[in-house]
Amino acid sequence: MTLNTPDTNTHSGLLGLGVYRPARIVRNDELVERIDSSDEWIRERSGIIERRFAGADEDVASMGTIAARNALADAGIDAVDIDTVIVATFTHKYQTPSASAEIAANIGAVNASAFDVGAACAGFCYAISVADALVRSGDARNVLVVGSEKLSDVVNFDDRGTAFIFADGAGAVVVGPTPEQGISPTVWGADGSSREVIIMSPDTVTAGREGVPSLLTMEGQRVFRWAVGSMGDVCKEILDKSGLQAGELAAFVPHQANIRITDALVKKLDLEDSVVIARDIQHAGNTSSASIPLALHALRESGQVTKGQPFLMVGFGAGLAFAGQVALVP
Ligand code: COA
Repeated sequence: MTLNTPDTNTHSGLLGLGVYRPARIVRNDELVERIDSSDEWIRERSGIIERRFAGADEDVASMGTIAARNALADAGIDAVDIDTVIVATFTHKYQTPSASAEIAANIGAVNASAFDVGAACAGFCYAISVADALVRSGDARNVLVVGSEKLSDVVNFDDRGTAFIFADGAGAVVVGPTPEQGISPTVWGADGSSREVIIMSPDTVTAGREGVPSLLTMEGQRVFRWAVGSMGDVCKEILDKSGLQAGELAAFVPHQANIRITDALVKKLDLEDSVVIARDIQHAGNTSSASIPLALHALRESGQVTKGQPFLMVGFGAGLAFAGQVALVP
């Protein structure tokens, strides 16, 4: 017995990009006292100069909604023409319903299916892979992908290893049909045997019952060694699958985890000076699933990349999960 396959022969690509950066800028000096640190130490060890924290009345869905509206406007697409909304996040305040369902309702995407992706800092690139497959298969025509995080809700500001790293924000793209393929095959994976390296504990269920906040813990050195030790090869595999040479890239947009990780990867990839390197972490901190669209947007706003240019993105973090693609700037 054979069932129908979707009647499609389409390519997919990024059609629009939008972001939301919370208004409140938090400089290192505001955080150092509780962790016996200094502005100088934080800049040198992480690259972070300042980050943004959302207000008490803001959350993953409200920030993602603004980023989503901006991405739709950038793509010139109406919300009613979105078939699927995917949100990458691990700081949405409800286990269910999803942030994606809330954002779809907020923007008026009344025809959309909606679900969240849980792959922490790799989540945005996981969601891009799913969106690309949905569009090419014909199961969806336009897909809205959002990365949104309010990490200031789950960070322990007395923890020296995490208090200065994580921050809040949201970014979104529209993935839809294009005349030529604008998203490369994905390279991805996960290693659950190292799940304790970055973990939110107590889990949100226990936290809700006991009324204690969910706090994120991280073994910073292990994350650092894993990222520097293995993401270079992952990036090379992404390039290989894309069919491009490193010199053909306009930009490298890795997850903004730590500027020393970015610098180590740039060295491993032996990128030419002509390749623009995203260093949004200096002003945005580590916003997990939002960091890649935020960093790409900053490059586009400053004119360092323009529409149609190829860039390599790679996300990595808790799981330990990773994913990446080459795509063309929307
Ligand atoms: N401020 C000042 N000093 C600090 C400090 C802080 N916030 N945290 C640690 N230190 C001190 C330690 O006490 C230690 O001092 P000692 O040498 O006198 O014993 C020294 O700095 C080194 O500590 P260590 O824990 O080894 O720091 P590190 O060099 O590993 O840097 C991180 C810590 C968190 C910056 C680093 O491990 C890191 O960036 N890891 C990757 C994190 C990441 O990217 N996470 C996101 C994944 S998505």
